[in-house]
Amino acid sequence: MIIGLVGCGKMGSALTQGAIRAGVFSSSDVRAYDPVPAAVQSLGADIQGLDSLDEVISQADALLLCVKPGDVSGVLSRVAELKTDPDKLLVLSIAAGVTIADMEKSSAGCARIIRVMPNTPALIGEGAAAFSLGSKATSDDASFANKLLGSVGMVTQVKEALIDTVTGLSGSGPAYVYTFIEALADGALLEGLPREEALALATQTVIGAAKMVAESGEHPSVLRDRVTSPGGTTIAGLAALEDGSFRSTTIKAVKAATARARELGS
Ligand SMILES: NC(=O)c1ccc[n+]([C@@H]2O[C@H](COP(=O)([O-])OP(=O)(O)OC[C@H]3O[C@@H](n4cnc5c(N)ncnc54)[C@H](OP(=O)(O)O)[C@@H]3O)[C@@H](O)[C@H]2O)c1
Repeated sequence: MIIGLVGCGKMGSALTQGAIRAGVFSSSDVRAYDPVPAAVQSLGADIQGLDSLDEVISQADALLLCVKPGDVSGVLSRVAELKTDPDKLLVLSIAAGVTIADMEKSSAGCARIIRVMPNTPALIGEGAAAFSLGSKATSDDASFANKLLGSVGMVTQVKEALIDTVTGLSGSGPAYVYTFIEALADGALLEGLPREEALALATQTVIGAAKMVAESGEHPSVLRDRVTSPGGTTIAGLAALEDGSFRSTTIKAVKAATARARELGS
């Protein structure tokens, strides 16, 4: 299977290199194109760069479409020109806000489409992604998407109607967590802990707590209750969070980002 990487920026490189490391495909199966030759070269000497988008589309069995949303329809209109049979090409797009209907239209139905919502921790192999299948995509295509995205983190399949919600949760979520880490550290800074130590302790606290949730299989509320003793320090901190409507504000953040993703996609 020949993999065509279109757009060798941050996400395209991370996905391709993660999949190669995990053995989903090998570097000799990849044909890459980016208008900036240095971007292709940065993938490494064992990945073959081609001189034009048309060559990549012609040779590929699966295209990883990793360009900015505004560049997607231009690429897919070349697909419509060069490939006439959807049995011959799978297109997996990570562009935010570009719908399956948009992509099926731009490619004139000449490709099987999968729409993916990744997030930036994929850059370090800790991504959280969801994907939706287009009308012509098969169960084999879904397995390929699971393997590919699973090589850079966790992945789940959702109906396209829920992709905007995934954007509001895991797509935008890293920024919420960065803000939380910063705020935790600032609290300790206010109490006199040096900045560097405060940030390191705050960061590791979030990593450790997230791993406890992931590895114990317990609901977060169960884990929280276990560390919240009557009259203790943690309940005092939690009461202050409740006072600031922490949970309600977080829920509203996901809702607001979901609404914004819907707006951008319409
Ligand atoms: N980064 C994220 O957190 C994140 C999360 C979810 C989804 N996404 C999606 O991922 C996609 C890529 O994001 P990114 O952060 O990796 O962007 P990026 O680093 O800017 O990479 C995009 C690359 O595609 C190239 N390109 C543009 N038109 C092309 C064409 N016709 N053929 C081949 N290559 C072309 C760009 O070149 P030029 O610079 O010359 O234009 C650039 O090198 C976006 O659609 C974004 O919505 C990103």
